[in-house]
Amino acid sequence: MRVATGQRLAGQPVNKDVVLSALLNAGSLVIGFPDYRKAAQRLARAAGMPYADALIHHFPDGETRLRLPELLPEYIVLCRALDHPNSKLLELVLAAATARELGARHITLVAPYLCYMRQDKAFHPGEAVSQRIVGTLLSQWIDALITVDSHLHRVHQLQDAVPVNPAINLSATAVMSAFIGKQLDTPFLVGPDEESEQWVAAIARDRDLDYCIAHKQRFGDKQVRVSLPKADYRNRHIVLVDDVASTGHTLEAATLALAAFDPASISVLVTHALFAGDAQARLRRAGVSHIWSTDAIPHASNALHLDHLLAGALDKCRNPRTVQGTT
Ligand code: R5P
Repeated sequence: MRVATGQRLAGQPVNKDVVLSALLNAGSLVIGFPDYRKAAQRLARAAGMPYADALIHHFPDGETRLRLPELLPEYIVLCRALDHPNSKLLELVLAAATARELGARHITLVAPYLCYMRQDKAFHPGEAVSQRIVGTLLSQWIDALITVDSHLHRVHQLQDAVPVNPAINLSATAVMSAFIGKQLDTPFLVGPDEESEQWVAAIARDRDLDYCIAHKQRFGDKQVRVSLPKADYRNRHIVLVDDVASTGHTLEAATLALAAFDPASISVLVTHALFAGDAQARLRRAGVSHIWSTDAIPHASNALHLDHLLAGALDKCRNPRTVQGTT
């Protein structure tokens, strides 16, 4: 089993007995998964906590064997992005249930990308309201939750979707603002739809930048129309900012609309880089020069790390009474 402390031994095989006693003494442990190891190790380092992998084996028939360190401290942080969620959710349940059996008394889930938050009502008769169902499932296994820029539309409090205390919905805008400041002097921020205004406006305020918000109509998974407001886009360095790029059609439609005004450049900055299928290639073809994302979901475009933002929220989960309100 590969186990390492976050501070000094991340990623190096070490003596198991020594490690186990160190973990128990530390009283807390970050457990990451193979697909999210680097970001989880960064979180462990930023929080000054030890780190261990959950070992995952996929059997040929599609079932999963999951293994944790044999003895666990009381306070466990499970850290994994929940993109491609159907198998990851089950593995999370296996990990949480096993952690309890091995001694964990408090489990915080750090899921920088939280799945199934967009289906927050039955849009057609008979549809599952996935947000509520998945939120309830998670609440049966975890004590506290930290996520980032969760897509809350009709449900405004994360705790209403995932009933645990605290349920903390952080925003990546401060990290994005600092990043943009290092890339471009006076970019023009554009939000591709009304929902993006909360993030675009926060960054614009922070850096005193111009911004505008487009109007989006969605006709299907791949059919999106974006109408830009009147503005002087010519020769400006444009940064399109959104919470999530899923199929990329929203950003592609916005890019094509902007390109007609002959801007100096068009870049894309998102919290959650799903970029399904050929989304990146389509964005490049449409005229995007830079695609940047946070490491909320591991992706080639990751340029911003959220470890310190997430670590700052971990203390509140250990002492929920110190949290005044959750978002
Ligand atoms: C929707 O309101 C979100 O903020 C994103 O704009 C949307 O989910 C992006 O989806 P896609 O990349 O599939 O167009």
